[in-house]
Amino acid sequence: NDDQFKKVISHAKEYGYVFQSSEIYDGLSAVYDYAQNGAELKKNIRDYWWKAMVQMNEHIVGIDAAIFMHPTTWKASGHVDAFNDPLIDNKDSKKRYRADVLIEDYCAKIEGKIDKEVAKAEKRFGDAFNKEEFVSTNPRVLGYLEKINEILSRMGKSLEAEDLADVKALIEELEIADPLTGSRNWTDVKQFNLMFGTKLGASAEHAMDLYLRPETAQGIFVNFLNVQKTGRMKIPFGIAQTGKAFRNEIVARQFIFRMREFEQMEMQFFIKPGTQKEWFDYWKETRMKWHNSLGLGEENYRFHDHDKLAHYADAATDIEFKFPFGFKELEGIHSRTDFDLKQHEEFSGKKLQYFDHEDNASYTPYVLETSIGLDRMFLAVFSNALVEEALDNNTTRTVLKLPAVLAPVKAAILPLVKKDGLPDIAKQILEDLKWDFNVDYDEKDAVGRRYRRQDANGTPFCITVDHDTLEDNTVTIRHRDTMEQKRVKITDLKDIIKAEVDV
Ligand code: GAP
Repeated sequence: NDDQFKKVISHAKEYGYVFQSSEIYDGLSAVYDYAQNGAELKKNIRDYWWKAMVQMNEHIVGIDAAIFMHPTTWKASGHVDAFNDPLIDNKDSKKRYRADVLIEDYCAKIEGKIDKEVAKAEKRFGDAFNKEEFVSTNPRVLGYLEKINEILSRMGKSLEAEDLADVKALIEELEIADPLTGSRNWTDVKQFNLMFGTKLGASAEHAMDLYLRPETAQGIFVNFLNVQKTGRMKIPFGIAQTGKAFRNEIVARQFIFRMREFEQMEMQFFIKPGTQKEWFDYWKETRMKWHNSLGLGEENYRFHDHDKLAHYADAATDIEFKFPFGFKELEGIHSRTDFDLKQHEEFSGKKLQYFDHEDNASYTPYVLETSIGLDRMFLAVFSNALVEEALDNNTTRTVLKLPAVLAPVKAAILPLVKKDGLPDIAKQILEDLKWDFNVDYDEKDAVGRRYRRQDANGTPFCITVDHDTLEDNTVTIRHRDTMEQKRVKITDLKDIIKAEVDV
């Protein structure tokens, strides 16, 4: 909901996770900077993905391709011709909207109207009420559906009945004229390419037009044979990478959900033609397991299988996550056939084939892709973790229940008071632990306030040094989620923390 989402955004700023880019110049729309804690959290998510994909998987290797690529890459991939968004100009507001976002807005709004009609009728008819029959026959409801279809048909799309049920309310405020109230100030639908262009070369006449990559995948496709040969990889095998991608999104909003500069974590799995169905199922299951291993709650994820497929795919599904503004795409799993490698063969004139020793034959491999936005994963983890908790003494605490493995700071070391040698011991503990974990030292304010501060920052452990420490070399270790405190030996700290934060 809106309130929760606003809290997420302000908490991310207040605790040094995410800042608006170039804030002192009033910001740059849909571009964000990761701050001191955000950079750590983001790195930990990236590492968690890399470990599962590359380190734990003997058939997958990782690369780091350049952001700039030869411009023909984007002709071959289809991005020059097909990577467009339909845009709609609205005469009333002189604003321009991205069609798919607009559709969602309208559907959400209309869905709300239909829900109201249904609720009214349900009250009136009681037990005799049949929702399906009502929705398919009621003239008002049919009128609403017709309106949506009219908008869609202008964009060459059509609405399936089940799409509507899927659409979740998005909008806080509709800035545009409302078709339900009769305004029809729509003009033509224009196509707009989403790639950012730039130039390579010193002088204008010799400069080459380049694009910033809109996805990391193409860096993997063009390196397919290099990696296969030098790594002596046997099919099936995968190539993974993480890195920046750029899209000139028209309507960019919802914080770090849709950005113009973002990071992807992608893996292309090269397989024998004909085996794509089994690998599609395998990767669906494997990726969902990865998500569930973080403990954000299985009920917060769902698959959304695509009926309408992109030109390169023969099967596709999204893993959707329940963000504060509803279920939305977090990751895509695509069966891309041999489309990309064949295209690059055609445009480069180079063979990109694999010789299968078992079959004694060459073929162009098929590709199964998993693609997740790192920033979206960050938002999923962060928004899920932020809770306001009622305590026994009628107060509340704000706590960021990040999975310990992802938390930016694993432990805060707190001397109870700033005297009697306690800070020295605390600093020594910090010195010992920092080789293994990112740890913090905090001596400011009363210890209760320091606990709250660390809770809100997502730190799983607080370690307090007090006067008893001077006697017996023990400290108090406090657990963020349970607030439970235990007395432990300083020499046991490392193992205790490790048991929670290592995977
Ligand atoms: N290579 C396939 C590909 O790029 P995509 O569905 O366009 O597929 C994959 O993007 C993932 O990248 C999405 O599921 C999403 O998590 C992330 N993503 C895409 N556009 C984004 C944007 N503008 N801002 C943040 N993340 C984005």
